[in-house]
Amino acid sequence: METKYIKIEWPDLTLLAEPAEALRNGRLVAFPTETVYGLGANALDSTAVQSIYIAKGRPSDNPLIVHIADPAILDTLVTEIRPAVRKLMSAFWPGPLTMVLEKTACVPMVTTGGLDTVAVRMPDNPIALELIKKSGVPVAAPSANRSGKPSPTLAEHVTEDMNGRIAYIIDGGPCRVGVESTVLDMTGEIPTILRPGGITPEMIEQVVGCVQLDRSLTDKHNVVKPKAPGMKYTHYAPKGEVIVVSGQEKDVVQWICEHALQDQKMGIRFAIVTATEHIQRYSSDKTGNFDNLDSIHNMNTIGKINKMDSINSIDSIGAVIPYGSIHQPEEIASNIFKILRECDRMGVEKIYVEAIAKEGIGLAVMNRVEKAAGGKVIQLNT
Ligand code: TXA
Ligand code: MG
Repeated sequence: METKYIKIEWPDLTLLAEPAEALRNGRLVAFPTETVYGLGANALDSTAVQSIYIAKGRPSDNPLIVHIADPAILDTLVTEIRPAVRKLMSAFWPGPLTMVLEKTACVPMVTTGGLDTVAVRMPDNPIALELIKKSGVPVAAPSANRSGKPSPTLAEHVTEDMNGRIAYIIDGGPCRVGVESTVLDMTGEIPTILRPGGITPEMIEQVVGCVQLDRSLTDKHNVVKPKAPGMKYTHYAPKGEVIVVSGQEKDVVQWICEHALQDQKMGIRFAIVTATEHIQRYSSDKTGNFDNLDSIHNMNTIGKINKMDSINSIDSIGAVIPYGSIHQPEEIASNIFKILRECDRMGVEKIYVEAIAKEGIGLAVMNRVEKAAGGKVIQLNT
């Protein structure tokens, strides 16, 4: 299949007419949202939704999020809208909050992976909203990556994964938030976060008074089955091995340096994904050891890393990649998936990631990074 690529230059949205019609007619269209790129199909058309699972290589028991452009459409999709749901809608829609509610018969079972509930959100991106409005249908859209890979935050990531598999890719530039929406189960007594995201527990609590995390999110031994089916699958995984390191700043830096030096000796390509504030600490001035200091030190922006394709030369066996300021977890969220994909592009075999505090959006960042690491976290005692 030929994939048509459409670049939208805000505020001119006229080019959306063609993909919107395709969407209405059962074809697949990738589009930007404020969180990550989505892979859209008409949510009420079982055949169209089925083709999402095929294009993504996604297990069919993993339900999709239905995207709407007008809050009033929610009435048609769910059996009841309780006052708490209305409060959350007016506080956070459009925005990165997905709510799970009892579905009506008009939502096909294939859209909800066989569940009686449906996940719905109204995205905060003018291109997404206009596309949905023009299509005239609610749009089921998972992240537009092949199943298991990091979610796409740039149109080129979508092209990498989906070219030739879908009808349209709409390029609307980089996604602002960078991690997927918060999935909040509103079917029980207490609102329950099934997947942490752009809307934090603190923000939800302020609006409805109470919120809890699904037990699987705090279960250190991975024995509790997650309520969001998607959370049980390996996810966000680049080809390289991800190692998350948590502890006191100086212990983390030292541990990573020691291990990266071993890699260097053995010719293993590594990347150190670190806070901008810590870049200098991985220089040989401090460790006295990296003999390829210059290349490590110079690769301190993602832009420069693009030039380091020749990472197979010994000079460029290691890269230090800043994910953003430790004081700006939002910046880290918007960079993290892009960095994991960059590591793949560079053929990195080991990716050391400095942990950040699980507060605010940091909770979502660490959820994704720990999943990319397959749950492996080095916890250095303090
Ligand atoms: O930000 C986002 O949410 C992005 C953009 C494109 O909107 N979409 C996204 O979709 O991340 P996806 O399919 O990659 O993740 C949907 C998550 C999965 O973990 C899925 O299991 C969960 O939401 N989910 C969907 N419907 C559900 C339901 N009825 N009950 C429980 N979990 C549900
Ligand atoms: Mg996804």
